[in-house]
Amino acid sequence: MLKSSVSSEFKKRRKKLYSADPGSVFIFPSAQELLRNPDVYFNFRQESNFYYLSGFDEPESLLVLAPKEDGDFQSVLFVRERNIEKEIWEGERYGADRAVSVFGMDSAFLVEEFDEKFLELLAHAKKVYHRLGQSKDFDERLMTLLEKKRASVGRSGKGLLPIFDPSEALGEMRLIKSEEEISLLRKAAVISAQAHVAAMKETRPGMNEAEVEALIDYVCRKNGCQRMGYGSIVAGGKNATTLHYRANNEKLEDGTLLLIDAGGEFDYYTADITRTFPVGKKFTEAQAEIYDLVLKVQKEAISMVKPGANYQEITDRAFEVLTEGLIELGLLKGNKKDLFEAKAYKRFCPHSLGHWLGMDVHDVGLYQKDGSSRPLEPGMVFTIEPGVYCQPGDQDVPERYRNIGIRIEDNILVTKDGSEVLTLNVPRERADIEN
Ligand code: GLY
Ligand code: MN
Ligand code: MN
Repeated sequence: MLKSSVSSEFKKRRKKLYSADPGSVFIFPSAQELLRNPDVYFNFRQESNFYYLSGFDEPESLLVLAPKEDGDFQSVLFVRERNIEKEIWEGERYGADRAVSVFGMDSAFLVEEFDEKFLELLAHAKKVYHRLGQSKDFDERLMTLLEKKRASVGRSGKGLLPIFDPSEALGEMRLIKSEEEISLLRKAAVISAQAHVAAMKETRPGMNEAEVEALIDYVCRKNGCQRMGYGSIVAGGKNATTLHYRANNEKLEDGTLLLIDAGGEFDYYTADITRTFPVGKKFTEAQAEIYDLVLKVQKEAISMVKPGANYQEITDRAFEVLTEGLIELGLLKGNKKDLFEAKAYKRFCPHSLGHWLGMDVHDVGLYQKDGSSRPLEPGMVFTIEPGVYCQPGDQDVPERYRNIGIRIEDNILVTKDGSEVLTLNVPRERADIEN
């Protein structure tokens, strides 16, 4: 279904980005359709920056922000033409008229007109912002146009307009979520939580990982998610020790755990939740020991989240608690300080504590500023996801722990006064899970 309007926030974002370096032309190509079979495409998802600035979700499009003579700027969208024959096969298109009326652009043209119009849009530009390296074809086309522009000014002394990467400026904007973005993340979190709860309730020994994945998909789609934010990990037993397990096709055995890492995407914002629970009724003693440690680490890290807190300090504290716990369980041997400094915990938790979350599951935004970890600010959203994975073949690990993989992952919003866990609707206490 086509939209009849979009939030005024898209326009504000374009203005904010342009204001970061006025007098520049910004160019954003849409995502490209990818062939899956000879004449069948993968499901299309718009490129996140393009969507963030436009709300427009058709392929073969280009968004340009360009300076005008009076110092202000204009937003111009290049779109596919309306085509009755194609629309019969693929569905209705917005076309140039509606690109203006629905998406609040200053003007819109057909994508075939880009080369000609772009030279006009360069008239008052001092710089170009475009992320090189995404599409060789487009990069080449842009170079040709910039060379044309250079040649057109003859011997006035001007060289090729310099090209800058807009990613950092956009990353900084996207890192701090607006109220509207937070409500979309909340929606994705609530729906994904429902999906995890359904999986916890329905999982039984003998089911296949694929069935559980299908249930997660179903609950997310039924409640309004357009797609999953990333490929779900549904990993029973030893499969949970494979960090990015994707096969999701084995039978679930009683006495083992099921690790599910899945998040639905709601209007381009995704959740990223992991829970690990028994396939049967109860955790074994060994499973419970590791589970309790992972939960303790996660709670400790979450309790430190507030504006001004330093992400690296939270990470260090979390891995310090993990090191202590691994020593207590006999999984690490030696002096705590030495083991921590040598990052010995990495053998059991090779991944980081978490990552920014937003339109992309591993969202944009710098983690460091001026060479050190940046302080947290209200509106930042990220995951905290400690895990312990005891590899099947690790002979140095007591046998009772081998094959156990446990991760607990929640999505945290930094608020004015502290933090809010967006994903707490899925139980994480052992007793609650068993119930
Ligand atoms: N689901 C990917 C991650 O947790 O980072
Ligand atoms: Mn994650
Ligand atoms: Mn995850």
